Amino acid sequence: MEETSLLCLLFLISLLSCTTNQARLTVSPSSSQFFEGDFVSLSCEEDDSSAGWTLRRNTSRQQRTQCGADWGKPAGSLCNISYMYKWESGVYWCESREGPISIMVNLTVTGGSVILQSPVLPVMEGDDVTLLCKTKTTPSNLPAAFYKDGSLIRKQPTGHMTIQHVSRSDEGLYKCDISGHGESPSSWITVTGEHSSTLHLAIRVVLHLVVFCPYFISTLFMVSLYRHRAKGNKLSVSIPPTHPEQGLEDKHEDVINDVTTEHRF
Ligand SMILES: *[C@@H]1O[C@H](CO)[C@@H](O)[C@H](O)[C@H]1NC(C)=O
Ligand SMILES: *[C@@H]1O[C@H](CO)[C@@H](O)[C@H](O)[C@H]1NC(C)=O
Ligand SMILES: *[C@@H]1O[C@H](CO)[C@@H](O)[C@H](O)[C@H]1NC(C)=O
Repeated sequence: MEETSLLCLLFLISLLSCTTNQARLTVSPSSSQFFEGDFVSLSCEEDDSSAGWTLRRNTSRQQRTQCGADWGKPAGSLCNISYMYKWESGVYWCESREGPISIMVNLTVTGGSVILQSPVLPVMEGDDVTLLCKTKTTPSNLPAAFYKDGSLIRKQPTGHMTIQHVSRSDEGLYKCDISGHGESPSSWITVTGEHSSTLHLAIRVVLHLVVFCPYFISTLFMVSLYRHRAKGNKLSVSIPPTHPEQGLEDKHEDVINDVTTEHRF
């Protein structure tokens, strides 16, 4: 009886941890484009540190290689790349031993002299998004032109542009241009709906409730079992052994009473 309850508990606990295991991939500096020679630090931030996430990437040269294998320098939960080469452009993602993959990001390393700093991760519908057009050589911001899906959208004297309250229609392939310096590579900006994230949250809440209720019930069950046993032991100790048979009978009756009262509960 107790063993099955314990197994049940273990199963429920593992189920609970399954629903909470999620890693976020962070990129620092937060950009999807880099100049050749830039330093970048990536990390798989996890809710549960026992999950054992690894950072992997696909580039034009290697597929599914892990940080520390022949690229990057693992430093705790971080993976540092001290010098990004052009060929290190590719898809980067976090992966756990059990298989789940976190969000993937596309990082582009350019040999050119202009980059577009755009959000690496999908942006939420309704948020403001700032795009920055940078040159490798000039520290101050220069006037830049911004393009979406090949068409000019804005010319900004300060080199940065904010899209207020982004919507799904802002999703697309962006690039920028600084006259006299050149054009940046293109990067995709993904906009996720608030709706879907609320739905996701709701699903998580429901999952937690579904998991928590049986856990709570089985805990109550175990506590009642334990209390019941404790009572039985106490009785056998406290009854003076003047009439051994009668004492046993008394004890037996008490236990039966306990059982019936608890079951009426
Ligand atoms: C990485 O490359 C492998 C092998 O080509 C492919 O199966 C996998 O889908 C790629 N992963 C990503 C995240 O692009
Ligand atoms: C990795 O980069 C971080 C900064 O992002 C730095 O604090 C840390 O010392 C670096 N670790 C190694 C081993 O290079
Ligand atoms: C990454 O880039 C590839 C090809 O350049 C594209 O097919 C894919 O959709 C991109 N993924 C993301 C998450 O932007």
